[in-house]
Amino acid sequence: MRHAIYPGSFDPVTNGHLAIVDRGLRLFDRLIVAVARNSAKRPLFTVEERLEILRGTLKERPRVEIDAFEGLLVDYCKHRGTHTVLRGLRAVSDFEYEFQMANMNRKLDPSFDSVFLMTGEEHFYISSQFVREVAMFGGDVSCLVPSTVQERLRHKYGQGKAK
Ligand code: PNS
Repeated sequence: MRHAIYPGSFDPVTNGHLAIVDRGLRLFDRLIVAVARNSAKRPLFTVEERLEILRGTLKERPRVEIDAFEGLLVDYCKHRGTHTVLRGLRAVSDFEYEFQMANMNRKLDPSFDSVFLMTGEEHFYISSQFVREVAMFGGDVSCLVPSTVQERLRHKYGQGKAK
């Protein structure tokens, strides 16, 4: 049974993340989508909100588990019995950060490995940060995120009601 962890902030989950999950499911039998609790970034959605959104969005994928973790990713991987992490790679700008992170993680745990999937051309410009910014100013994010996220963004920014 091959399984991997897909870690991230997911603040919020985007269509780009979902595409990586679906492609990851072709490579792995199980995926654990893991929200980092101790991200240095100031989040828009709480970890609990992000978990709820992910659970709702990914409920039709039985081979996907949603979880959260605290502390080092390598420790969480050990705890979950895997050494493989899945990450999406969008552009040259992502490369340096991902390269450093992958090597730091491998320094911490030599058995650790990262699998990178190149983001498809329809998603390479999507980031949670831009989604938040566009939504904050009332822009249309309908083709960037699932509809539940769109609703929740509207609610967060006082532009309408969330379910
Ligand atoms: O979606 P993001 O914000 O790019 O995800 C980054 C994440 C959460 C994968 C990364 O910050 C992480 O693994 N954090 C856990 C703490 C850790 O292990 N840090 C050392 C890695 S350099």
